[in-house]
Amino acid sequence: MLLRTLIRYKHAQERCAMVLFGRNRSDFVSCPPIVTLITRQQTTQTTGIAELLQNELSKFSYLHCHVPEVVQVCQRDMLVHENFITEEEEQILFEEVESKLKRHLRYEYDHWDDAIHGYKEIERSDWSDQSQPILQRVRRLAFPPGVPQLHLVHVLDLAKDGWIKPHVDSVKFAGNTIAGLSLLSPCVMRLVHNDNKAWVADVLLKPRSLYIMRDAIRYDYTHEILKTEESKFHGEEVPRNRRISVICRNEPPTSTTD
Ligand code: OGA
Ligand code: MN
Repeated sequence: MLLRTLIRYKHAQERCAMVLFGRNRSDFVSCPPIVTLITRQQTTQTTGIAELLQNELSKFSYLHCHVPEVVQVCQRDMLVHENFITEEEEQILFEEVESKLKRHLRYEYDHWDDAIHGYKEIERSDWSDQSQPILQRVRRLAFPPGVPQLHLVHVLDLAKDGWIKPHVDSVKFAGNTIAGLSLLSPCVMRLVHNDNKAWVADVLLKPRSLYIMRDAIRYDYTHEILKTEESKFHGEEVPRNRRISVICRNEPPTSTTD
C-alpha cells in the first residue's frame, strides 16, 4: 500500500547524483550547533573542550554534509542510533520477516520511473513475542506518548542491486515521523531539499541502526537509497548487499490530503 502512495520525483535522481561529485573529505563541514551545545558550566568541568567537541562530532558520524544549514536540520530531524539492536535481535527480526518474504518469489524490478527498484515488501501487525519488545523500543523512542501510530509495520527487502529513488512519503498515509531499523547490510540514504537541490546530506545506515526521520527532513527533503555504483560515504565505497528495513510510522493528521 505504502509504495503506491509515494510522491515520485521523476528525474530527481539524476539531478541529485551530480551534487556531491567532485567533493572530497576535507570539504566536510562539521556541525555548527556544537558550539551552542557546550555550555559555560561544561567547559569549567574537568572534561576538556577538545573531548567535548570530539564526543559531539562522533555523535553525528553517520552524517556527511557540506551545507551548514542542512547539517543543523539533520541534527534535529534525522537521528541515527547505531547498534540500536543486538545481533541476536537482528536475527530474530530477520528470521521472522524472512519466512514471510520468502512467499514472494522474485524481487520486483519495475518501470524506470517507479520509486523502488529491486524489492519485496510486506506489512505486518502480528509480530512474535520475541519481536514485539524490539518494535516497542523503536516506537517508544520515535513517537511521544499519545501519538497515534500506524498499526502495520512496513518491511522492505531491497536486493543487492536494488535502490530507492528520491521521494517523499505520502502525507496522506503517514505522519511526521518515520522510524526505520536496518538489517543485514549497510547502505547510504541521501537527503535532498525539495526546492534547493544543492542542499544534500548523505546518511550512513549501518545494520542494526535505527533512523528517526521527522518534520523538516520528512517533508522538505526527498530521501533515497543509493544504488551500488553510487553507494559511497566520505568518498569510500559502501558495498551494497541485500538490506531489509523494518519501518514504523505514525498516522497522518486527520485533515491531511496529498
Ligand atoms: C520507503 C523508504 C527507506 C528504508 O519505503 O518509503 O523510503 O529505510 N524506505 O528502507
Ligand atoms: Mn520513503
